[in-house]
Amino acid sequence: MQSRRKKRTVPRIVSRKQKGRKIVMITAYDATFARLAEAGGADMVLVGDSLGMVVQGHETTLPVTLEDMIYHTRAVSRGLDTTHLCGDMPFMSYKVSPEQALTNAGRLVQEGGAESVKLEGGVEMADTIARIVAAGIPVVGHVGLTPQSVHAIGGFKMQGKSGIGRVQLIEDAKAVADAGAFALVLESVPLELAETITAEVPIPTIGIGAGPHCDGQVLVIYDMLGMNEGFAPKFLKQYAHLGQTIREAVTAYAEDVKHGLFPGPEHSVSMRDTKRKTQEAPIYGGPSKATAH
Ligand code: KIV
Repeated sequence: MQSRRKKRTVPRIVSRKQKGRKIVMITAYDATFARLAEAGGADMVLVGDSLGMVVQGHETTLPVTLEDMIYHTRAVSRGLDTTHLCGDMPFMSYKVSPEQALTNAGRLVQEGGAESVKLEGGVEMADTIARIVAAGIPVVGHVGLTPQSVHAIGGFKMQGKSGIGRVQLIEDAKAVADAGAFALVLESVPLELAETITAEVPIPTIGIGAGPHCDGQVLVIYDMLGMNEGFAPKFLKQYAHLGQTIREAVTAYAEDVKHGLFPGPEHSVSMRDTKRKTQEAPIYGGPSKATAH
């Protein structure tokens, strides 16, 4: 008999740090990928504003709106059962004032089904984080490379390489933890700095391009599945080559259609079949979540 997996609650995720058990976070943007991420053993699914780049095709995450995030978070929530669901707060949805941030975090929870929200920034975001946490909404911080500040940073560059940068990032991480965030994403920082921050903050760190010493790791699902074929930074491990697989599958399908090989008799229904009632349920409006292949 299959053992039922325990819900990944915030206290359970936080306790992983003391237990020395790594946290697995991955992004998803729809119910199908979310379901597969849960089946694969992810502890946390992040509906990242990276969807602006990998789903919407923008150059940066800046055009993503709160409505976009709510839509995708709601879709992902339908694919999850025991996995924690974190929704990203998009550009300009939380930096105007703590009140604006709280209102919009509340929408991600209430309308999107998020169980926590993630926002970018360090010391300067402490009051905002505290305000959201005080309202009962768990917050994940995000320091290091913060893609919403891409223009200020001057590109998607590694952070914390200089002495001043390192000191600032340690201060940022501590401020985020002190403000009440329950976890902290460290993006694109040297592994030694990630190790120091991980040792100095009481909350779990979740790294992307931050080396092996973080308490957990996160990857963008399209990247780790090899769907973003031209994107191969050093930090990324491709666990599959779905870009190639999908291209080959579509090519085979196109060839079959062009040559009249699809659909064959095994994929077609005749009047005789319907009279015998041998037909399965139609695909859409057909299989439920549990029976979908
Ligand atoms: O938007 C995103 O997917 C993220 C992760 C890369 C951490 O912020």
